[in-house]
Amino acid sequence: MDKEGSQLIRGLEGVVAAETRLCDLDGKNGRLAYCGYDIEDLARRATFEEVCHLLWHGELPTAAQLDRTTVALIAAREIPRELVQAFALMPKDTDPMRALQASVAMLGMRDPDGTDNSRAANLRKALRLTSQLATAICAHHRVRQGQSPVPPAPDLSHAANFLSMLSGTRPSAIVTKAFDASLTLYAEHELNASTFTTRTITSTQSDMHSAVAGGVGALKGPLHGGAGEAVMRTLLEIGEVANVDVFSERALAEKRRLMGFGHRVYTAGDPRAAILRGMAEEACRQSGQFKWYEIAVKLHARINAAKKLIPNVDFYSAPLFYSLGIPVDLFTPVIAAGRIAGWTANIIEQHEDNRLIRPRADYTGAGRRAFTPLDKRA
Ligand SMILES: CC(C)(COP(=O)(O)OP(=O)(O)OC[C@H]1O[C@@H](n2cnc3c(N)ncnc32)[C@H](O)[C@@H]1OP(=O)(O)O)[C@@H](O)C(=O)NCCC(=O)NCCS
Repeated sequence: MDKEGSQLIRGLEGVVAAETRLCDLDGKNGRLAYCGYDIEDLARRATFEEVCHLLWHGELPTAAQLDRTTVALIAAREIPRELVQAFALMPKDTDPMRALQASVAMLGMRDPDGTDNSRAANLRKALRLTSQLATAICAHHRVRQGQSPVPPAPDLSHAANFLSMLSGTRPSAIVTKAFDASLTLYAEHELNASTFTTRTITSTQSDMHSAVAGGVGALKGPLHGGAGEAVMRTLLEIGEVANVDVFSERALAEKRRLMGFGHRVYTAGDPRAAILRGMAEEACRQSGQFKWYEIAVKLHARINAAKKLIPNVDFYSAPLFYSLGIPVDLFTPVIAAGRIAGWTANIIEQHEDNRLIRPRADYTGAGRRAFTPLDKRA
């Protein structure tokens, strides 16, 4: 207890800081649902467009509603020419998450709903940002490689269009389904660090683009969304299945933090990791890169046996994204492309029942002391 009677809870572990109708996360039993629908059903049977509608409106869309949401998402895919010009001015080695954060800020400057925080304006902004984020990620990637952006294709779904804008070729139905399900699996996850950031910014009555720019910054870190890239770099470092044992022993002996393992809330297992494991197996087999899946499975077994650590969502998404042809430093932007649905839904929810988020800190610095003028300081 500090002097004012509050209790210090490091990392806010176990603190309940909001009410939500969006995400039901049962960490003890390893279960996750969006608005009451089990994540497994949504990943397997719904499209990302349906999941966006669900998170923004609280209900799965009817066929007519889905049609309207899909048409509106397609209509919002273009990004301002100035943003593409800005990509060309950025250093070639600009981290794609930095470029994404700058993109969100620039999209905010041009958004017709500006700083209007009404529900109607926020729903329009959520939809536009979801579409434009995908276009911005792919356009920045193309420009940094000295290529022209691939224009959005109005006849493709959100997932297929993303892959088409990234590579310039139309993906197969199997690849599209795997990518679409990944976006759904990443779409929402209660008060993770980036969503909490978006809610904290929103709680000051700031606007959606400002909140999302903050969320992108939080997601970038390796303890959060940045873990996926680190997992793939680990798998590439291991290189062959035969090297897993030596790598594991050394990493354990050095007490390394193993990316893609552990979770603050899930104790029994992360249900998203179980689904992604199956998807990674299939995608690695289909793409002729099965060894990345095999290395991941063996590493999972070794680390779990030694430390009882569970793989989290970012563990099996790494070999999955790699086998789908996504460049490693775009893994975190891809997660943002999914999480934008949840960020925007949380921002809308926060605006509708807002209280400033303002916790306290326990002061541990020097005691009160007399001020020393500059010319008297040693
Ligand atoms: C996600 C994460 C930050 C949660 O951390 P947390 O709830 O703050 O838990 P802590 O970091 O306090 O870890 C608790 C214990 O488990 C260990 N641990 C947790 N995750 C670990 C990991 N990935 N590798 C090695 N040890 C780990 C810690 O060393 C600590 O052990 P100790 O009590 O003996 O010191 C943590 O598991 C982690 O860093 N994972 C790797 C990054 C990652 O995959 N992030 C994506 C999350 S979806």
